[in-house]
Amino acid sequence: MDRTHNLDFIRVTEAAALASSKWVGKGQRDDADQAACEALRHELNSMDMDATIVIGEGERDEAPMLYIGEKLGTGVGPKIQIAVDPLEGTNLCANGTPNAISVLAACVEGEGFLMHAPDCYMEKLVVGEECRGVVDITLPPRVNVRLMAKALGKDVGECIIGVLDRPRHDDLIRELRETGCRVHLVPDGDLSVAIAALDPDAGVDGLMGIGGAPEGVITAAAVLCTGGEMQGRLRFTTDEQRERAEKMMGGDVDRVLTTEDMARGEVVFSATGITSGDLLKGVRFRRTGALTESIVMRSSTSTIRRIETFYKDRSSR
Ligand code: FBP
Repeated sequence: MDRTHNLDFIRVTEAAALASSKWVGKGQRDDADQAACEALRHELNSMDMDATIVIGEGERDEAPMLYIGEKLGTGVGPKIQIAVDPLEGTNLCANGTPNAISVLAACVEGEGFLMHAPDCYMEKLVVGEECRGVVDITLPPRVNVRLMAKALGKDVGECIIGVLDRPRHDDLIRELRETGCRVHLVPDGDLSVAIAALDPDAGVDGLMGIGGAPEGVITAAAVLCTGGEMQGRLRFTTDEQRERAEKMMGGDVDRVLTTEDMARGEVVFSATGITSGDLLKGVRFRRTGALTESIVMRSSTSTIRRIETFYKDRSSR
């Protein structure tokens, strides 16, 4: 992918973050989501590319925009596949709580790959580079956390594992706490926490538990860029979901998915904070404009840029 194109994607997540930030704390999740979707779609449509959404707001019949298969861009330029979550953490945004982000991963067809994930759950294990090659999602969580502690040169009691606060994770949380490790419970937004786990300075060492599969593929794109490791297993709640997965992915849909099964080759990843959290600062308003913080990464060079952008005169946006 053209190097300048990578940076264009920051504008896309910035636009979605700015648009949804106007709804932070207002309790109106659908309005926040719609604002993010419209802004992101508008920005993507202005780019010279022939893009297709591979992960978006859902299937064509259930999502008015950014549905899987929707064509975006001017139609002139490279054929690009895009995985987006314009507002990851709609409740977080509506409630004004940490970790709402706007996020996107993209690749040129033939140069990179992003798995076409069905809208189901995925069991996830995400670790940073130092723990790459030492964990295994088929092992009990208590074993993985001990392996992680050894690789990180820490006591188990110093390890922090991010987990979504859901009743389905009661056993996982109990087992992790029994090892002595600390559990960083979040109400929503496992994508932010997973990406924070890739940064040795972010204060989270790993992510475990079940969250959305589409968010899982976008996480894998970030993992590919940073050199960490992700393993996932799809989890189905209906037969339709399983059938859909079989159609989309082929093969054994219960298999352990590696980072490279979900994202490989040349991939670009961009995220902008909406509310401040584990990964990024949220949108901050000033008298004269608004400030955003974004992270943009490329798998081909493993560059990780953190970019602060000041938008003068926020009223014009
Ligand atoms: P939304 O932004 O779509 O609300 O997703 C938030 C999220 O918490 C994700 O981060 C996570 O992967 C998924 O929802 C978990 O799903 P559920 O709320 O059904 O447990």
